[in-house]
Amino acid sequence: MRHADAGPGGRPPLAASSRSRIEPFRAMSVVARAGELAGAGRDIVLMCVGQPDAPAPLAAREAAARAALAGPIGYTASAGTPALRRRIARHYRERYGVEPDPARVYVTTGSSAGFILSFLAAFDAGDRVAIPAPGYPAYRNILRALSLEPVEIECVAADRWVITPALLEAAHARAPLAGLLVANPNNPNGTMLRPEAFHALVDAARALGIRLISDEIYHGLTFDMAETTALGLDEDAFVINSFSKFFCMTGWRVGWMVVPEAMIETVDRLQQNAFICAPEISQIAALAAFDGMAELEAVRRGYARNRALMLARLPRLGFGEVQPIDGAFYAYAEAGALADDTARFAARLLEEAGVAVTPGVDFDARRGRRWLRFSFAGDHGRIAEGLDRIEAWLGRQNR
Ligand SMILES: Cc1ncc(COP(=O)(O)O)c(C=O)c1O
Repeated sequence: MRHADAGPGGRPPLAASSRSRIEPFRAMSVVARAGELAGAGRDIVLMCVGQPDAPAPLAAREAAARAALAGPIGYTASAGTPALRRRIARHYRERYGVEPDPARVYVTTGSSAGFILSFLAAFDAGDRVAIPAPGYPAYRNILRALSLEPVEIECVAADRWVITPALLEAAHARAPLAGLLVANPNNPNGTMLRPEAFHALVDAARALGIRLISDEIYHGLTFDMAETTALGLDEDAFVINSFSKFFCMTGWRVGWMVVPEAMIETVDRLQQNAFICAPEISQIAALAAFDGMAELEAVRRGYARNRALMLARLPRLGFGEVQPIDGAFYAYAEAGALADDTARFAARLLEEAGVAVTPGVDFDARRGRRWLRFSFAGDHGRIAEGLDRIEAWLGRQNR
């Protein structure tokens, strides 16, 4: 019984835990409001959600449909089906020329579960874990909910918006860090560490005894820069990935980790108890998704086209710096000349122009009020339409 007025004797409500008092993911409230407006008949251009509008590869959908019709869908081994784990290991050989022992490959319920498992496996309550700002808000919020301390490292233009060894060393000198979590490409900006910069950062973390968690969820979606996996660079690193983005399978909730050899048994115990296993039907689909590479490459080429459009038009609309879009499907643009507070700007843009974008405060609590994130994972024509609407709306403001 959690309500005062419902309980005998008017007992005050039992409080939520203090660890659960984390920030909401504000992008989701933009999505919710966009949904309400669309439900009321408004045509809304969605540039707020970080998900492909393409479906999973056909082979994945067919495999899942066959399995659903053929018989029960059940639990699998906690680590995932042997066939999928072997196929993921082979994927590393094909893409990066380094093949992990499939025993180290751990199938998870999206990379989101991978974070929880790796944080629980590697850190104790109170440990400090460095994350980038700007960065994906769930890092900071899940770390907090697990009684860990996120240490935001503010990236700057002079360093090309990435964490450098010097920034890491300075944060560690202030108070020791137990972990470092980097996404490469990063969300919300798509910015990557160049291969040599990534190597240097991995080496710096190793030298300081800091555990690396490498979020490689946007691998496969890069434009001009080579992508580097942490696999093979640091045997203590957790390498996290997902079928959500490159494989266009957000809703299937399936991802994977390559865990350090010494952590296999630890992660197994955690997954057995916390999640049992990732959904079997999604694992079946994920295995078949590897046969859809040509389709997925065509989707990536679509993003490259969208990226070129964003880079051409954002400056003309009055946006300032756009952080380097080396990969993923986001443009993170400085909007100081257009707005004092991008949360209010984004709310008005949605209501008045019917374009949904995400304010920067989700990604960078201190500096985000001047920035906006655009997702260009959608259809090219719709993105062009969104940019046209923004241009017309800004024109009306200036009249
Ligand atoms: C950088 C990053 N990591 C992880 C995730 C979580 O993805 P999933 O749990 O669908 O694998 C996201 C989702 O947007 C993301 O942007």
